[in-house]
Amino acid sequence: MEHNKRLDGANDFWDQAVVYQVYPRTFNEDGEREQTGQGSLRGILERLDYLQSLGIDALWISPFYPSPRLDGGYDVSDMENVDDIYGGLDDFEALVDGLHERNMKLMVDLVPNHTSNTHPWFQASREDRDGKSEWYTWADGITDEFGQTAPPNNWGSVFSLPQLKRRESGELIVAEGELTPPISGWTWDETREKYYLHSFTDFQPDLNWHNSEVRDAIKSVMRTWLDRGVDGFRVDAVPYIGKNISYDDDGTFHGPDEEYNTAYVDGIDNPYDQLVRHNSSGYPGALNPYLHEMISVLEESTYGNRDTRIIFEAYMPEHELKYIDEVAPGRAASFNFTPIQADWHMPTPVRKQILDKYHARVASAGNISNSVMGNHDKSRVASRYSDQIAKSLALFSLMQPGMMFIYNGEELGRHDFDRIPPEMIRDPNGLRDPERTPMPWNSLEKNTGFSGADAKDLYLPMNPDDTAADIQSTDNESFLSYYRRLTAWKHRMTEPYVALDIETADGKNNGVIAYGRGETYTVITNFTDEPQTLEAISPVRKMGKIVLSSIMQIDSSITQAIDTITLQPNESIVVEHEN
Ligand code: GLC
Repeated sequence: MEHNKRLDGANDFWDQAVVYQVYPRTFNEDGEREQTGQGSLRGILERLDYLQSLGIDALWISPFYPSPRLDGGYDVSDMENVDDIYGGLDDFEALVDGLHERNMKLMVDLVPNHTSNTHPWFQASREDRDGKSEWYTWADGITDEFGQTAPPNNWGSVFSLPQLKRRESGELIVAEGELTPPISGWTWDETREKYYLHSFTDFQPDLNWHNSEVRDAIKSVMRTWLDRGVDGFRVDAVPYIGKNISYDDDGTFHGPDEEYNTAYVDGIDNPYDQLVRHNSSGYPGALNPYLHEMISVLEESTYGNRDTRIIFEAYMPEHELKYIDEVAPGRAASFNFTPIQADWHMPTPVRKQILDKYHARVASAGNISNSVMGNHDKSRVASRYSDQIAKSLALFSLMQPGMMFIYNGEELGRHDFDRIPPEMIRDPNGLRDPERTPMPWNSLEKNTGFSGADAKDLYLPMNPDDTAADIQSTDNESFLSYYRRLTAWKHRMTEPYVALDIETADGKNNGVIAYGRGETYTVITNFTDEPQTLEAISPVRKMGKIVLSSIMQIDSSITQAIDTITLQPNESIVVEHEN
């Protein structure tokens, strides 16, 4: 069952690559060490055969760097090392070797916007020493209407969701009719006697990207990992490095207030979203040159001839993503979050427009498209909808050209685990633990094979409703077997995206979407809860065999006309045409 694409002889490694996101804290712990319940790098190594048989071409590993891990490791205290809990640099080396021996590649997470407040850089900066005083975003306060010192502007912290609960419980008093305030993005530091900016929690201070020394330091981190053999980076929260800020010669900070967002619904939305983000994040005048700088490292003579790639994490409007996708098409792109963000039941004409436009614009930029169905920040797809829809969305997404990102456990049809005891809640935003519970590997082993530690010591509890990989592995009808078929088909499809229009027999045409891969394949998805019979497709494609379905086992010997095909509710299929 080894069918990773290098072995299939494809040209550009990343085109058609299936990239698997490992969340190291809950992926797997190797048996060689004292069991802590927190995962390990050798634990990842142990599962490479499994990943290879799943058709995975590359891994992206979420941060495994030294960290207090108050934000699952996205609070880094040393960007160039391995946290003891996961092992050491020799384990990292073994992992790189294990991957490269299998013709698989490795992307690591780069967190350029912030560090942990325990990082020596921040310690030096707050103590105004070692030339690091301007490495973070410091500002004096202003005096507010009551004569009190207040933050210099209204910028908020992304993790303001807990404010809703605080208001509800009476811990946060807000006058009736007033909006629930976001948590301020500024925290007063007693040592420096200034405010520091943090786009996320107060223990994640924002680096000052306006300072060229900071940019040089991050580029040096990139080189360190490239020298250790990594093949690329997933760049965390990248819009936040680009802010509309300036400093006077005397060090006075300037950063304009954000405007209010008229679409914000108080009591439901994250209070952070009541402000638009024009200055505090995604400010093109700053962001764009910084993106260029980061990408330029991959082009340096030492690395330029390697098959490296950057994927930027940016939840941003389309026109700004377009810019990112055009910056360096051979090297970098932004995540395409449409499969995560677009509701399954959204109007299909809108979904189709988004899809066709996305593929057209990425192709015209000469870039590689991609799809993301889930990650460690979002509710798992099978929980958001249903198992059936999860399978259908997987087919619809994976068969599109370009890279596919699979979040660990998606291939097992895993669900969110909502019954996490209060004392085990880890996420500072109070939301993302359910999709981060440990992987179930072996039904007969302690903690389903994740770790030999006591259940109470696991980072997060096991989800007892999961079906473990070992059981799924031998069951041809399982999620895992289905995913193996999907990745095999993905690697087989090398022709470009073709926009197609479809008519259904009920004449409404509003529930079914089709696209082609060249002239050879047609991928069709029924986004409705009703069966749909196809009437016509344009440009015309008449006869074909159904070779793959999200619902049925296929007898692919039957050739049929498109207008005799009926899709089951929420079904996706692939039709292969004879050329
Ligand atoms: C990104 C990560 C998320 C993290 C945040 C702050 O959005 O995906 O997990 O909390 O950045 O680093």
